[in-house]
Amino acid sequence: MKIFVTGMCGYIGSHTAVELLNQNYEIVGLDNFSNSKKETIDKIKQITKKDFKFYEGDMLDKNILTKIFKENKIDAVIDFAAYKAVGDSVKNPIEYYTNNVSSVLNLLKIMKENNVKTIVFSSSATVYGNPEEMPIKETTKTGNTTNPYGTSKLMVEKILKDLYESDNSWNICILRYFNPIGAHKSGIIGEDPNGIPANLVPYVTQVAKGKLEYLKVFGNDYNTKDGTGVRDYIHVVDLAIGHIKALQKLENEKKGLYIYNLGTGKGSSVLDIIKTFEKVNNIKIPYKITERRDGDIATCYSDPSKAQKELNFKVQYNLEDMLKDAWNYEKNSQ
Ligand code: NAD
Ligand code: UD1
Repeated sequence: MKIFVTGMCGYIGSHTAVELLNQNYEIVGLDNFSNSKKETIDKIKQITKKDFKFYEGDMLDKNILTKIFKENKIDAVIDFAAYKAVGDSVKNPIEYYTNNVSSVLNLLKIMKENNVKTIVFSSSATVYGNPEEMPIKETTKTGNTTNPYGTSKLMVEKILKDLYESDNSWNICILRYFNPIGAHKSGIIGEDPNGIPANLVPYVTQVAKGKLEYLKVFGNDYNTKDGTGVRDYIHVVDLAIGHIKALQKLENEKKGLYIYNLGTGKGSSVLDIIKTFEKVNNIKIPYKITERRDGDIATCYSDPSKAQKELNFKVQYNLEDMLKDAWNYEKNSQ
């Protein structure tokens, strides 16, 4: 099977490309390097010792999409390409809606023209807004997103649902990721945010490396076991394998529109992350408790049972593995 992977050089795209190649899928990649580096192409080849076709280009340019579908017999698409920084999306809503929604409309038009109707889409736990129940099930109410990034994911989910309603020969899987962290065990690929990291684990690894002085813990007065925010962290390689499970479901079972949470079902607090990181890597993480961050919620973790049952999705890695691998990548990178 030949899979078109958009946003292939990004954090999750690159790890998924490795797992796809390891499982003998053929892949065709696309990226515009707005949030990634060209070297990642060779790194994926280095890890897998396999070759693949890659196009540099923008999803907003229909010509490049037309060219890719003309030059390759694509069977299915995994769509990672998007902007993902929550704070930035509040400042630049037009750019976020254009990149995250128009790019998908372009892609779906070209897929339809080429009669390719199988797609796996990267969504996020952010579509649940401030969730009404915990753990979060796929049936938990979505909406009330608090920023343009989250709203853009919700919009695409709606577009995909309407598309399936209009023509149920489409075969669609929406994956709602919880908090992906960690890196490939080789330490060759990992998470490489531009500038000062907005997310917890990349911030912790940069403190460990001495690039940042201390971690700010955003509030310790939440209604959680130790007062700090609780999240469902999942190893990025487990998440990548979740995409293969989703493709297998779309290949082997009847056509449909499927939605799955990809998480571990376990909640860890900010202090759990600090303590576990210190224990497994033997490095002290200085931190200070500061104000809450606007828009944060106390607790967010998944009920992963639907993906376990229907996709046979089981995570292999625990929090210790995730934090060891995150550090292994950071310490080897520039
Ligand atoms: P990332 O920024 O590392 O990867 C996205 C890739 O897409 C980058 O390589 C970027 O250069 C590329 N890209 C962006 N716009 C493009 C365009 N118009 N044309 C071509 N390439 C383009 O992000 P990631 O963490 O790998 O996330 C992948 C997907 O998963 C995104 O859709 C993101 O919203 C979603 N997601 C991520 C997380 C997370 O915490 N990392 C959580 C939930 C959902
Ligand atoms: C992020 C995304 C969200 C997405 C979710 C799952 C942001 C702002 N939000 O949220 O859209 O749905 O991942 O993919 O990027 N923390 C600190 N200090 C820091 C950084 C974070 O204490 O320097 C705390 C936060 O308050 C939170 C936890 O660490 O309790 C995790 O934060 P983060 O890694 O940013 O992820 P989310 O807030 O879950």
